[in-house]
Amino acid sequence: MANLKLPSYLAQSETVKARFDDLKRRDVILEVSELGKTFESVNGPVTALKGVNFRVHRREFVTVIGPSGCGKSTLIRILAGLESASTGEVLLAGHPVDTPGPDRGMVFQGYTLFPWLTVKKNVTFGLRNQGLGDAEASREALEWIQLVGLEKFADVYPDELSGGMKQRVAIARALAAKPRILLMDEPFGALDAQTRSKMQSYLLEIWRHIDITVLFITHDLDEAIYLADRILVLDANPGRVNEVIEVPVPRPRSPAQFLQPEFLSARQRLDELIHPPSTTEEAVGLDLSRFVRSGEKTDAQD
Ligand SMILES: Nc1ncnc2c1ncn2[C@@H]1O[C@H](COP(=O)(O)OP(=O)(O)OP(=O)(O)O)[C@@H](O)[C@H]1O
Ligand SMILES: [Mg+2]
Repeated sequence: MANLKLPSYLAQSETVKARFDDLKRRDVILEVSELGKTFESVNGPVTALKGVNFRVHRREFVTVIGPSGCGKSTLIRILAGLESASTGEVLLAGHPVDTPGPDRGMVFQGYTLFPWLTVKKNVTFGLRNQGLGDAEASREALEWIQLVGLEKFADVYPDELSGGMKQRVAIARALAAKPRILLMDEPFGALDAQTRSKMQSYLLEIWRHIDITVLFITHDLDEAIYLADRILVLDANPGRVNEVIEVPVPRPRSPAQFLQPEFLSARQRLDELIHPPSTTEEAVGLDLSRFVRSGEKTDAQD
């Protein structure tokens, strides 16, 4: 990648620039200020997050990427109200977040559907706080199930669905509660590459049609770019925002864009940030010599 002659990831076409100008004029839905989190562990205190600051605008799609252990899940759990912050503040539509609430929908990596409920009943569960009668809740649940393309499976139990279908139900259930923001922690991490790619396109299609803001954690560089308006790149120890990338790829997105110069320029920048030279194979410093069976040559001996 390093030798490719690409445009700067900072360069934006007129259309992309206009899109960002419009986005920045929208209301701020989520505001994170000086957020910090320290855990007490058997080895002493662990500072997972320190001085994290960012804002997300209405209908923005933000992805979060960073090395393992940099505090991504801790961040999203604090935003969800499942974990308390040690310092700083989270405001959602101007209100401080300290407990879970229906204004936030969550989709995590493990399948979190209730196995004893049908698809329709799982989605109806998402509607429970809205005071709807049974018939109305059932009708509305079906609309969300249709949105994720699973109307034929409404009366099926989760164990009869594929991994991708389960996550589509989880998305429908989260959206049914009409949250302001969808918090997603590696929701497609357990899926095979082909299903994952389809799910990314599904999610973008859904997002295009409804008024929802998304914060999406991923390990996958291409996924981070393909989905996002902006990417928050986190650093580890302690976790903090290292860089915010405005993705220069126009919308609507399609997998054909993966090889376009704007996409590759963002990919190259992410690569530099996530895989700096000190983390290459030679530099990680693991002593694996005892795993080379005697009589076999290592590369270095060739
Ligand atoms: N309940 C806890 N008690 C103690 N330490 C914790 C706890 N939860 C997380 N940590 C520590 O906080 C740091 C951040 O963890 P976190 O799970 O947020 O990272 P992550 O970026 O989501 O990692 P991954 O990419 O592997 O999912 C790690 O050092 C982890 O060991
Ligand atoms: Mg995590």
